[in-house]
Amino acid sequence: MSKGSFYITTPIYYPSDKLHIGHTYCTVATDAIARYKRMQGFDVMFLTGTDEHGEKIEKKAAEAGITPKEYVDRVVSGILELWKLMNISNDRFVRTTDEYHVQSIQRIFKKLYEQGDIYKSVYKGKYCTPCESFWTESQLVNGNCPDCGRECYDAEEEAYFFRLSAYAERIAALFEAQPDFLEPSSRMNEMINNFLKPGLEDLCVSRTTFTWGIPVDFDPGHVVYVWVDALSNYISALGYENDRYDDFHRYWPADVHIVGKEITRFHSIIWPAMLMALGLPLPKKVFGHGWLLLEGGKMSKSKGNVVDPVVLAERYGVDALRYFLMREFPFGSDGTFSNEALISRINSDLANDLGNLVSRTTAMVDKYFGGTLPSPRETDDADLELVGMAGQLRSVYEQAMDTYAPQTALVEVLKVISRANKYIDETAPWILARDEGKKARLAAVLYNLLETVRLCSVLLSPFMPDSCEKIRTQIGALPEQFTWETAGFGVFGEQITVKKGDIIFPRIDLKKELEALASAQEG
Ligand code: MSP
Repeated sequence: MSKGSFYITTPIYYPSDKLHIGHTYCTVATDAIARYKRMQGFDVMFLTGTDEHGEKIEKKAAEAGITPKEYVDRVVSGILELWKLMNISNDRFVRTTDEYHVQSIQRIFKKLYEQGDIYKSVYKGKYCTPCESFWTESQLVNGNCPDCGRECYDAEEEAYFFRLSAYAERIAALFEAQPDFLEPSSRMNEMINNFLKPGLEDLCVSRTTFTWGIPVDFDPGHVVYVWVDALSNYISALGYENDRYDDFHRYWPADVHIVGKEITRFHSIIWPAMLMALGLPLPKKVFGHGWLLLEGGKMSKSKGNVVDPVVLAERYGVDALRYFLMREFPFGSDGTFSNEALISRINSDLANDLGNLVSRTTAMVDKYFGGTLPSPRETDDADLELVGMAGQLRSVYEQAMDTYAPQTALVEVLKVISRANKYIDETAPWILARDEGKKARLAAVLYNLLETVRLCSVLLSPFMPDSCEKIRTQIGALPEQFTWETAGFGVFGEQITVKKGDIIFPRIDLKKELEALASAQEG
């Protein structure tokens, strides 16, 4: 039975270039949370998509000598392939060029205009073309764009504005009443100090200097400008003000919008204000994750230092890459990506700890019992610590996952895996095996190990779905013994037959691989 609905989203990505490891990070994290919630029995809607309008795309298409639609179709098909490769389990994919989205935006824009929340005026200010953002003088940092640091230029044009200033008090009240609306809490402080306290200004929501956007149907010459178009994807994709879908009441309000830190302002201030204007409930949470950096700063196409997730997934496997991204970096903070950290993490956690535990355990069941673990099994005090830790794991993990701390969840699982490896050394099954009278004890030791592997892999499966499925087969667990409900200790029954298989996470030669990888990434 469903535990209720759970609606989770990623930002919709700009299809201006190929996506890099930073975008993959956000999508993998959202995917792991969505899979976790599905495993728990929630009726999950996981939405991602592409944000396809704007001047930047228009220019890129012109440079390539094709129409903007041809340009975005090309890039979007690469994005879809990337998500397929990364095993992303999104339930829906919205493109802002989809007809139903266009229909929603035109209706939303008109509604806000008719009720006075959008009005026509003249825009004078600073504009950052790459970010497609207007800024006030006071928001600039050293005269440059506060997001990307690039130069902004003076702009003046007739435009429609969203009356954001009218919502300042209600946004402040929201932050006050619901301190966990935006997490981590450092981001909430940033919003209050940098945006609410200086005062909210009305937001420019249409442009006349380019045409690649959704037309304002009652005022030709204007196209809807970025944030009304982009943010509304979260409701258009459920069928709000369009005829394509009919899930709005089932999933709205969203449980969480997962977004990168630089767009938390749009999600935690502008989006709630728009929803207030539309008379709609607000999302329950916005989580602003950190950035993946490279030594020396941000990844960017112009710096020529983007890391291609396809190269890494092909070399090490999709699951190893997914695991690394979630295990290496605390979700709310920035982290520095390096090939060395990636390979070292795969070797230590996956090849040595998890992989070894699976292969040693199944090999011993095979060797000492011909693959089928017998009963009776004789327990001992030496089992208590491992069994205790393993028995607690699901609730520790749940607490971490429910507070958007996937790294902590993984650390806890790996602690139990390390404890199990130590347990092998402590109980020395190879010595027990020499004594016919210790068979029942040996069976208990191997049972405890198989149980630990089973429940750890259930909990790892949102992060590494395919590898955990392989582990399930190797340890002879049935699908019904591989569920959230069965992720406690002591579920495996009387008869357990393992099926030794290939090594799931091969060890990588760090030095050789670093050299090979450097040349693969250049190519
Ligand atoms: N189109 C807007 C979002 C609109 S949502 C209504 C956008 N697109 S984006 O393609 O530029 O970025 C999408 C997401 O990728 C953002 O959340 C951004 O933070 C994230 N990342 C881009 N580079 C990143 C890193 N290097 N590291 C982590 N996340 C990064 O913004």
